[in-house]
Amino acid sequence: MLATAIDKIQGSPISAIFDQATRLRAEGHDLIDFSVGEPDFDTPEHICDAGIKAIRQGITRYTAVDGTNDLKAAIVRKFKADNNLDYNLAEIVISAGAKPLLATAIQAVINPGDQVIIATPAWPSHIGMVQVCSGKPVIVPTTHEDGFKLSAAALKAAITSKTRMLLLCSPSNPTGAVYSAQALAELADVLRAHPNILIISDDLYEHIVFDDNRFATLAAVAPDLRDRILTVNGVSKAYAMTGWRIGYAGGPKWWVDGMRKIASQINGGPSSISQAASIAALDGPQGFLKTWCETYRKRRDIALEGLAKIDGLKILKPEGAFYLMPHCGGLLGRKRPDGRTIKTSSGLASYLLDAGVVIVPGAGFFCDPYFRMSIATSEANIVEGIRRMTTACNALK
Ligand SMILES: Cc1ncc(COP(=O)(O)O)c(C=O)c1O
Repeated sequence: MLATAIDKIQGSPISAIFDQATRLRAEGHDLIDFSVGEPDFDTPEHICDAGIKAIRQGITRYTAVDGTNDLKAAIVRKFKADNNLDYNLAEIVISAGAKPLLATAIQAVINPGDQVIIATPAWPSHIGMVQVCSGKPVIVPTTHEDGFKLSAAALKAAITSKTRMLLLCSPSNPTGAVYSAQALAELADVLRAHPNILIISDDLYEHIVFDDNRFATLAAVAPDLRDRILTVNGVSKAYAMTGWRIGYAGGPKWWVDGMRKIASQINGGPSSISQAASIAALDGPQGFLKTWCETYRKRRDIALEGLAKIDGLKILKPEGAFYLMPHCGGLLGRKRPDGRTIKTSSGLASYLLDAGVVIVPGAGFFCDPYFRMSIATSEANIVEGIRRMTTACNALK
């Protein structure tokens, strides 16, 4: 029998959709996949070359469990240059992706029953990780009307004597909301009155920010709170390195030490080869990040224009990341050509799957009736996928 905490949680719904789409494709179905959560670009050549060089040089052995000093030094430089954050090597921890790093960070500080405030729509794993540790996610719903952002007032109202953590994600997966420095400063004002609350800032999509929006991170906006903030980042989304598996964080030494302790028991060090490649990513040319961001922006605009023509959808312009989160309430209650009624975003997702389009229903992000669409795919795919969605949605009565 499974442990109680594990028995209660669900596997990641995004992984489930990914697996289903992979199976259908293997069976020969022609699918446009809007479920993917990774850049469709290749890892840049100079980064691959650094990985190959590491193999050739025999950098193929275990490293320290929390990463090499060389990569930590590159991360210290990155935090200073991009975020104006000062960390020393002892305040940096590296892991095999931001996902296990976040899990370890939560595990290090959450006792059973501790409350963790998470705004929804949320990345499912943020919630699942808290549940794995027998913590209690306290969900604060946001909608497209409030820009999918947690307000200072909503944060204040959600805090109880059991609140131990606030988990922030900006730019957000799944909504694309970007917290301005001002919005973060307002949250910091609330947090100042509650010294027991730790904060994780998940900054994975830092480099994908559109229009006049500017990326900001809490530890830089509120340096006085620095000793209770863990700033999490990684190379996956920024440098198209999802398969290389490197995530990292900067934070107070006591917290980082706790994470190191857990990692020393349950993980080996992250891949030596991927760490060498990540140094090339962080220290190398950064110009292509702007070009990629512009490509995502163009795709976002094409998708927004197409989706706006589908009766029954409402959509907020994402400020960053590579996702759209349409509200599909207007389609619920309509009948499919086979007579079945669309009752939830999951029903819509399964109908659209039959029409050759993969989306992720809102239930996975603790919000309905919304669904998530990734634009990390070509313009041609976006146009064709939205054409299929339009035909399918117009056929609903
Ligand atoms: C918000 C967010 N944080 C963390 C991760 C994990 O990234 P990594 O590939 O580094 O494990 C993801 C991946 O989808 C994500 O969307």
